[in-house]
Amino acid sequence: MNESILILDFGGQYKELISRSTRALGVYSEIKPGNIPSDEVKRLAPHGIILTGGPGSVYAEDAPRCDPAIFSLGIPVLGICYGMQLMCHTLGGRVEPGEVGEYGRVETSLDGDSPLMCGVGPDVKLLMSHSDRVCALPAGSRPTASTPGCPIAACEDTGRGLYGVQFPPEAAHSDGGREILRNFLFGICRVSGDWRLGDYIEKQIAAVRGRVGGGRVLLGLSGGVDSSVCAALLSMAIGRQLTCVFVDHGLMREGEGDEIERIFSRRELDFVRVDAEERFLNKLKGVRDPERKRKIVGEEFVRVFEGEARRIGADFLAQGTIYPDIIESGGEFGDTIKSHHNVGGLPADLSFAGVVEPLSGLFKDEVRAVGRLLGLPPVLVDRQPFPGPGLAIRVTGEVTRTKLEVLRRADRIVGEEIGRLRRRPQQYFAVLADVRSVGVKGDHRTYDRVVAVRSVDTTDFMTCEYTPLPHKILGRIASRITGEIREVSRVVYDITGKPPATVEWE
Ligand code: XMP
Repeated sequence: MNESILILDFGGQYKELISRSTRALGVYSEIKPGNIPSDEVKRLAPHGIILTGGPGSVYAEDAPRCDPAIFSLGIPVLGICYGMQLMCHTLGGRVEPGEVGEYGRVETSLDGDSPLMCGVGPDVKLLMSHSDRVCALPAGSRPTASTPGCPIAACEDTGRGLYGVQFPPEAAHSDGGREILRNFLFGICRVSGDWRLGDYIEKQIAAVRGRVGGGRVLLGLSGGVDSSVCAALLSMAIGRQLTCVFVDHGLMREGEGDEIERIFSRRELDFVRVDAEERFLNKLKGVRDPERKRKIVGEEFVRVFEGEARRIGADFLAQGTIYPDIIESGGEFGDTIKSHHNVGGLPADLSFAGVVEPLSGLFKDEVRAVGRLLGLPPVLVDRQPFPGPGLAIRVTGEVTRTKLEVLRRADRIVGEEIGRLRRRPQQYFAVLADVRSVGVKGDHRTYDRVVAVRSVDTTDFMTCEYTPLPHKILGRIASRITGEIREVSRVVYDITGKPPATVEWE
């Protein structure tokens, strides 16, 4: 039986972090909706259950609940923040709104006799972020931590294996948080921590071989991290039974299409590059609206892929779906999961015997690590996110071949200059603005193009800050772009965060 921890989600923003933290400690974990039935939990047979935090209040009518029977399965439970409150509330304790909330790092006293707290404390600073608090514990539980504003900041019922903490142990600003998680996993759930990515790869390779038999598999390869790692893994599993179709829509960055072809045509797999630039640019002619551009690129991609799929004739469709795609679409218990089995909206009559998704249990950083283990070069594994519609949404307004060419050259310069930084921002690129501006080059007045430089620091791309780039680098980017590209007379730096702006300009 493989060891695993089940994370029940109540809407907390740290659920992925918890899952990644257990995996980093060698313990496989999966996230499921908080209200799954206890029979389902029994079937999954985890070694421990973690209840996440969440924005709700347990005394509210529409508060997310869990199946109370999960507390009687004999499986250790750790409730975190809302998870602790929910556990206490469900088992007969009392939760109330606090007079004052606690936010930030708070001095906390821990009970060193608790199996959860052992080796941590007795006094540490833990990250608190709550206004509700547990005021009365269920029968059989005792408090194991307190802060000035929260006398019951942690609790336990060791007889039933139930533990609660009013702080997120996995947060970077919680002293000893990792130790608490370790205690829960190794001391209380008694897992051994033998989960390794290498084993995951081997298991997936065996699973793919078993599933596919002698059939043919088709993978749409975009050159992004997920599909590239998927290609490498599948090629190791089934070699020439795999065909990778790379639809080159002509909206890639400088040299990118050739780079992808160079890397994948060397591998033991059937690699097809479809040069579809002409088709895409024709469809985009005269179109200025960003959403229309996105739609056109998406639809045209499907048409090209469909043609290739029919030509090649494959039994299975492979996708580089990763774990966050599944979590975000509502998990195995949600309705929207089906959309993931329908790559880019492929038509229903394009029938496959099945879908193969060997990365669907992994987080992005784990996918990158698998890529490294499989020998993919850093240029692919450490790639920044690049939007599906490519440069079509970085040339604002109408897309033309000339504009794309100008943007590619500017983008290369931005990449070279910012790429020199020791700590690189998460995403940086050039945008060709749909305006002209007056300038002077030599003795000539110019009326030319404007390039915007975008560079953002972010953890999840849902929000971001602009990168405070050194002026020296900004100056060099501006002088190189205007000096090396005749068509550009002005360079600006975008200093807007998200919100209110987005990362991309369109
Ligand atoms: P925004 O512009 O929404 O971008 O703040 C957030 C992240 O998503 C990427 N992005 C896209 N990716 N298709 C994609 O595959 C798209 O249409 C698209 N639009 C934005 C963007 O590069 C950033 O990393």
